[in-house]
Amino acid sequence: LNNIAVLTSGGDAPGMNAAVRAVVRTGIYHQLNVFGVMYGYRGILKNEIFPMESKSVANIIQRGGTILKTARCKEFYEYEGRKKAYENLKKHNIDGLIVIGGDGSFNGAQKFSQEFDIPCIGLPGTIDKDIAGTDFTIGFDTAVNTAIEAIDKIRDTADAHDRLFVIEVMGRDAGYIALHSGIATGAEHIMMPERKTELNDIIEELQANERRKKLVNLIVVAEGDDTGGANEVARRIKETCPQLDTRVCILGHIQRGGSPTCTDRILASRMGYAAVDALLEGIHNVMIGIVNDKIHYTPLDKAVKAKQEIDPEWFKIVKILAS
Ligand code: F6P
Repeated sequence: LNNIAVLTSGGDAPGMNAAVRAVVRTGIYHQLNVFGVMYGYRGILKNEIFPMESKSVANIIQRGGTILKTARCKEFYEYEGRKKAYENLKKHNIDGLIVIGGDGSFNGAQKFSQEFDIPCIGLPGTIDKDIAGTDFTIGFDTAVNTAIEAIDKIRDTADAHDRLFVIEVMGRDAGYIALHSGIATGAEHIMMPERKTELNDIIEELQANERRKKLVNLIVVAEGDDTGGANEVARRIKETCPQLDTRVCILGHIQRGGSPTCTDRILASRMGYAAVDALLEGIHNVMIGIVNDKIHYTPLDKAVKAKQEIDPEWFKIVKILAS
């Protein structure tokens, strides 16, 4: 192993910079040449590949976003695109590729590594925490902390006006941001794609709460929930309970930005270090995860979106603690 490249791909996540820093510095420590690729796979196709030094990653561990930029790249889904990518990587004699991104990015890396002789390592970077083979993904902790800061503020104003708020958090196919931020803010209800919620049951509870003069209620909805998101939930509540003073807040992309938390910086640093270590050890085409606080390798083809069963106990906790 002599020359490795690192890229960030898909939706950005806080902590990606800390991971890039760890890859670059670990690589240099082992006397490898480390190249950065701009804009994910698109940058390989456009040959936006440049050598990085230790100081290229100075002062970035605390920064959100990604200095390498990111993009979703359609061309890489096609064989022709991947072939061109291989040719460009070979121009720089790259013999190892580290991809920081979500399951879509790993899918590309897996195909690429099967077709061409460049070993790939994936690092799970997504705020959604929806990838199998790791307890946490880079960016999740920061995103939930951003969400709870915002939801706490919403509760202040909800409380002042005796209002019901329906708050939508991110999570295209996964409800972990909703589950964690909902529990941490004492939300009365949490709606997420992994568990079907009957909105009518929630409405009945809201009516019962109203009878006992509990008017302040927070409903945290994952954007991927089957009901159709916060606007639809609020519309149906207003239809049945027009007397409730109902408002909607969609948190949106604020959850993707900001300085990573300590947990995300450490997760990203450990994973970045482990990615280079794996390549040096000849461990190829795996995603680095951390399971029970230990580095864990998952073959790239198994590092897919994990729509896990959510333990029903979580919802018991929500119900008991918010009653
Ligand atoms: O996967 C991360 C995520 O933030 C999802 O939670 C969200 O659905 C999606 O990306 C939004 O993507 P975009 O920024 O491309 O609109």
